[in-house]
Amino acid sequence: MTDVKLREHRALWGRKPALRGVYTDCYQRMVAACRSGRTLELGGGPGNFKTFAGTKDLDVVSTDIVFTPWLDAVCDGHYLPFVDGAFDNIVMFDVLHHLAKPRLFFAEAQRVLKPGGRLVMVEPAITAGSRLFYTFLHPEPVRMAEDPLATGPPDPDRDPFDSNQAFPTLLFRRQRRRFEAAFPALGIRAVRWFSFLAYPLSGGFRPWSLVPARLVDPLLRLEAAIEPYLGRLLGFRMITVLERRPVADEADRCDPGPQERAG
Ligand SMILES: C[S@@+](CC[C@H](N)C(=O)[O-])C[C@H]1O[C@@H](n2cnc3c(N)ncnc32)[C@H](O)[C@@H]1O
Repeated sequence: MTDVKLREHRALWGRKPALRGVYTDCYQRMVAACRSGRTLELGGGPGNFKTFAGTKDLDVVSTDIVFTPWLDAVCDGHYLPFVDGAFDNIVMFDVLHHLAKPRLFFAEAQRVLKPGGRLVMVEPAITAGSRLFYTFLHPEPVRMAEDPLATGPPDPDRDPFDSNQAFPTLLFRRQRRRFEAAFPALGIRAVRWFSFLAYPLSGGFRPWSLVPARLVDPLLRLEAAIEPYLGRLLGFRMITVLERRPVADEADRCDPGPQERAG
């Protein structure tokens, strides 16, 4: 894997104002959900999040599993090379659904967050309104039957762009209780659904856009007004905020999953 795709994404960010408009909204929501302090960005890709972090005094270390000269470090979300309690926040934009083994990542996130620290994720949401788009018009797969908390190590030869767009919806909607039982020390502080037409019409990181850039902001304002009523039913994205609970050691340990329990 080279950084060719990330270079393409970085170039598109520079020349596609509709994309910047839609993604700026997402980055601003992420910053608003963070608390001040040391912040780890995972899967930073084209490296845009940091430019929004100044508004809230976030001291950001931007990382990705792929080396790029514009990020601070290479880091696999499954194995975080940081001491316990190192961060006030972990932020991820469109990264959770690219992880092969989210269970490993959540155990690591729980370890490196300070008590009260937050894990903030913006991800695709599979809803009645978005499902057809993500299934038939988006290049990444939607596999609702895959286990998002499967145990075992990730395949070391896996392409970092392999994905399952269903993971966030499975973890924080369909199988929320299962997640809570597996990671009691990561309290679910908020799950909010948003984003309707502007994002799919913008084409994301594809070269085309079906919405003129000047219409993106008014469209996003309209979408923000209706999201409390229609987000959960029709939204294309979800922002999930987890908070590291200061609980006793025993409860702190994540559920190891059936294979380890059996062993
Ligand atoms: C869809 S891109 C999102 C990029 C970026 N967050 C943004 O704001 O545009 C997904 C990113 O996750 C990274 N990634 C995939 N697997 C990863 C892993 N195990 N650990 C860290 N990053 C990973 C990819 O290299 C890629 O840069």
